[in-house]
Amino acid sequence: MRMYDIIENKRNGKELSKEEIEFFIKGYTDGSIPDYQASALCMAVYFNGMTEKETVILTEAMANSGDTVDLSMFGALSADKHSTGGVGDKTSLVVAPIVASLGCKITKMSGRGLGHTGGTVDKLESIPGYKTTLSGDEFISQVEKVGMAVIGQSGNLTPADKKLYALRDVTATVDSIPLIVSSIMSKKIAAGSHNIVLDVKCGSGAFMKTIDDAEILANEMVKIGKGCGRNTAALITDMDMPLGSAVGNSLEVIEAVKVLKGEVKNDLREVCVALSAELISLVFSLSHREALEKVNDALDSGKAFEKMKEWISAQGGDVSFIENTDNFPKAEYEFDVLADGDGYISSMDTEKIGLTSVILGAGREFKEDSIDFSAGIMIYKKTGDKTDKGEKMATLFTNNKLSFEEAEKMYRSAVCLSSVKPENKPLIYKCVR
Ligand code: URA
Repeated sequence: MRMYDIIENKRNGKELSKEEIEFFIKGYTDGSIPDYQASALCMAVYFNGMTEKETVILTEAMANSGDTVDLSMFGALSADKHSTGGVGDKTSLVVAPIVASLGCKITKMSGRGLGHTGGTVDKLESIPGYKTTLSGDEFISQVEKVGMAVIGQSGNLTPADKKLYALRDVTATVDSIPLIVSSIMSKKIAAGSHNIVLDVKCGSGAFMKTIDDAEILANEMVKIGKGCGRNTAALITDMDMPLGSAVGNSLEVIEAVKVLKGEVKNDLREVCVALSAELISLVFSLSHREALEKVNDALDSGKAFEKMKEWISAQGGDVSFIENTDNFPKAEYEFDVLADGDGYISSMDTEKIGLTSVILGAGREFKEDSIDFSAGIMIYKKTGDKTDKGEKMATLFTNNKLSFEEAEKMYRSAVCLSSVKPENKPLIYKCVR
């Protein structure tokens, strides 16, 4: 078989065979196929697409290109959730303990933040002592005992995706649906869970800016997840404003704890309840109503909060920070952003709000940058809220006082004021099963 012929076939719009796709993934992973041929194939896929059959084969080949996690000991109880990324998206910190408290086995490998979006691993590392690396045996035994573990992506998981993603990034081939779907789903398949719920974010802070695009991606990911033999569902949720009030690592952990304690009943709770209900209805074949009741009860009874404490403590974290979130160190400097006029918040450029938190030190511009766990933003006025001149719209937190000027400018440029109240938009657009 020759890579040249595979490129030519795809360029001419033909469906690639299993052998051709596997030849490409194996050869590109082991270095025998050079970047220039892989780029040409990605571009041909970009223009000619892939059938569902090709995308399933590509996803499985990428999932099998490195280590895979065996969760067969948990039968059909293993469960995972994935978000396509957003600002203030701390749903994993809430959903995982809810569904673990209801009997699912949550085995989650999360990423770090990059650019305007945050990452679960960074948020968890703001809890002193929390270990984001566990050996394979420790990981499984914690899930057996506690029902859940959340670690960083470790080992040699999907090396084909690591190489291909880096290549797509510099060859203008990131935004191809079969390439995005195979990239995301191969990592989920390699991570082993039988049940997968995807949170496809949509709006100014998300990878998918429009509902139509988010729906295409969600439909494809669900089809491919099922095609790879996993129970898969997706929710399309709003990211036209940050989720919840907190953006920044320890600030987000604090907000997640408040939701788990039942102290805060906001948009974050609503999305977490919907995602958790979707996950447990996949695992236990429940009706949507039954699933919602169970999830709300796990929150209101304190069961989910108890699970969070058990989880954090099992993973080495200092649970006194979860019991009393005042223990988290505060940033040295804070600065209030006041409204410069009367009116309604008519829109929020959520990507810019994410970038504001990066300027304050809460995120990274480059992979190797360090982060300031206590930096971030508390948002008091969101889209649709009324504000008077001089009212507090947000507070910025940082340990680097010099960042305030740029951060305030960025934040103000993200928030639009209008005399007209904007239309209410749904928080959860659609469920794809
Ligand atoms: N996230 C991924 O992991 N892969 C993509 O291709 C796009 C977003």
